[in-house]
Amino acid sequence: MGKHFQLLKLDATDSTNQYLKDLLRSENPLDYTVVVAEKQLNGRGQMGTVWYSESSKNLTFSVLRRFDALSVKHQFVLNIAISMAVYDVLEEFLVPNVKIKWPNDIMSGSKKVCGILIENVLKGERVGQSIIGIGLNVNQTDFENLDKASSLKRITGRNFDLDELLQKLLERIWLRLEAIESKTVTQLLPFYEKLLFRKDKPSTFTDGDGEMFMGYIRRVSSSGKLVIELEDRIFKEFDLKQVSLLY
Ligand code: BTN
Repeated sequence: MGKHFQLLKLDATDSTNQYLKDLLRSENPLDYTVVVAEKQLNGRGQMGTVWYSESSKNLTFSVLRRFDALSVKHQFVLNIAISMAVYDVLEEFLVPNVKIKWPNDIMSGSKKVCGILIENVLKGERVGQSIIGIGLNVNQTDFENLDKASSLKRITGRNFDLDELLQKLLERIWLRLEAIESKTVTQLLPFYEKLLFRKDKPSTFTDGDGEMFMGYIRRVSSSGKLVIELEDRIFKEFDLKQVSLLY
């Protein structure tokens, strides 16, 4: 069934993304090498944030993918493929109301259950390797100061088997990653856009200077920017550093 992964299971490491990056420098890890840790001592999130995850309750892992001909311009296909793979699995496990919060947070209702950190190693105009880090909150039930975070258990009341979940995720990730070789961002975007959190709903955002504004999420550009409709039918594209959705 699918592709064989090289699975490295660690008790603890700073960050599985960092572990794979170091491995890339020192050795020559195979395509689809996967590093999974019971505990991360320095888990990292997008834009320099910290990723907290209680030991042994959740999934924190990273996948190495090598590419021959993925152009930097098309790198958003990775965000699409990975968020849709996680989406597929959560749907399969009957997690309610799963949506993708651009660019690649996975939500159930208005709570974030999964964060994704994709770090690409560029070779000129191409993506040489991609380190795909996934933090999925599974059986943790306490999220003290993180009022927007939740877990599969908190939402469904069920306990999940971490190994089974990991296997399913790796299978879907493989399928979705293989599929992008033959597809462009433009072909994949409509499927991704359908799953967007707060699409076409009046929403409040803050811009890079912290100023609030109102708008509607309408679509995502082929370079992966979020297209928001402001008043008077003005459409504006934002990248991750320029906009944050308040919800
Ligand atoms: C985010 O939502 O900000 C992204 C969070 C990504 C967390 C995962 S956990 C496994 C991998 N290793 C890390 O240090 N981060 C990612």
